[in-house]
Amino acid sequence: IERTFSMIKPDATKRNLTGKIVDRLESAGLRVVASKRVYMSKAQAEAFYAVHRERPFYGELTAFMSSGPTVVQVLEGEDAIAKNREVMGATNPAEAAPGTIRADFAQSIGENAVHGSDAPETAKEEIAFWFSGVEIVG
Ligand code: GTP
Ligand code: MG
Repeated sequence: IERTFSMIKPDATKRNLTGKIVDRLESAGLRVVASKRVYMSKAQAEAFYAVHRERPFYGELTAFMSSGPTVVQVLEGEDAIAKNREVMGATNPAEAAPGTIRADFAQSIGENAVHGSDAPETAKEEIAFWFSGVEIVG
């Protein structure tokens, strides 16, 4: 059993899509073992996305992520990291497979509804960034 970190981004919370997105995750066999709504500061967004600080979209990304509420979650399940990314679809919604969260709910490559960890090491770091051990109830 594996854990991954997921975010429902400000474009999706603004459009009231939280429940629909969680339904997609649960229907894929992922269990929500921690969840909270946060309105991150620019500094928190910059720290969370520090790995992208040299990328041209870093400023736009961190401004967007601190522009409204986000739902941060820990998901648990068999191959949770890969399964979550499969359900999310490609980063750019124009390239996302039909039936994926991004194909159905994302607006652009920046405002793309969800985030999911890409590897076991990043999942561990991203979970620890937002949650303490007692907040995760498996
Ligand atoms: P994540 O699960 O969000 O990490 O998606 P990813 O791993 O497929 O994408 P990547 O790590 O390369 O980029 C992280 C996030 O930066 C993406 O989800 C987008 O929100 C944002 N991003 C990536 N490329 C662009 C871009 O060209 N323009 C803008 N504005 N944002 C981008
Ligand atoms: Mg990524």
